[in-house]
Amino acid sequence: MAEMLRVLGLCGSLRAGSFNRAALDFAAAHPPEGMAIEAWDGLADIPPYDDDLRQDGFPPPVERLRRAIRDADGLLIASPEYNYSIPGVLKNAIDWASHPPDQPFRRKAIALMGASPGALGAARAQYHLRQCFVFLDGLVMNVPEVMIAQAPDRFDHGELVHDPTRSFLRDTFLPAFADWIRRHGT
Ligand SMILES: Cc1cc2nc3c(=O)[nH]c(=O)nc-3n(C[C@H](O)[C@H](O)[C@H](O)COP(=O)(O)O)c2cc1C
Repeated sequence: MAEMLRVLGLCGSLRAGSFNRAALDFAAAHPPEGMAIEAWDGLADIPPYDDDLRQDGFPPPVERLRRAIRDADGLLIASPEYNYSIPGVLKNAIDWASHPPDQPFRRKAIALMGASPGALGAARAQYHLRQCFVFLDGLVMNVPEVMIAQAPDRFDHGELVHDPTRSFLRDTFLPAFADWIRRHGT
């Protein structure tokens, strides 16, 4: 593992004004020392999963995602919750990326965060993600958890403005993830 930890950020929302993307951008702008976080912007290019398509090889956007995950020391997912679960675009990307051979989530250090206008901060989507990563043998950090509830009160014009949440991400969550990667990452 290199001295500088490279973290790939994946947002489960394609929306320009996404709260989750804003949370991920905040994290990318405030990493702890020794960590760099880069958000991945290719989610919209991933085609719907089709096993017939896969027989001809992974489509280039999927190959790019697989490589980006493999090359990263850790994966930071910020996702909304749709209908109490994982948004289709994100689940679709995980399904593609996870296909053998060399599925890239195996033993990968992963941290989850989520934001929603409701009271639970995308908690249910995060627990469904955790379930997927049990099968994929991803190493999801247990605590601290990040559930940003009442998102419209905490973001303004695409920026996380709620000071306690900013401090929690910057001073508690991200340093804990750096430690998690150093202890468990591949
Ligand atoms: C199809 C759909 C289903 C949704 N289901 C939920 C839900 O189950 N729980 C929840 O808290 N919010 C739900 N929402 C509201 C989203 O949390 C809200 O749109 C949020 O802003 C999406 O995240 P984003 O701002 O990062 O795009 C849903 C939104 C959509 C479009």
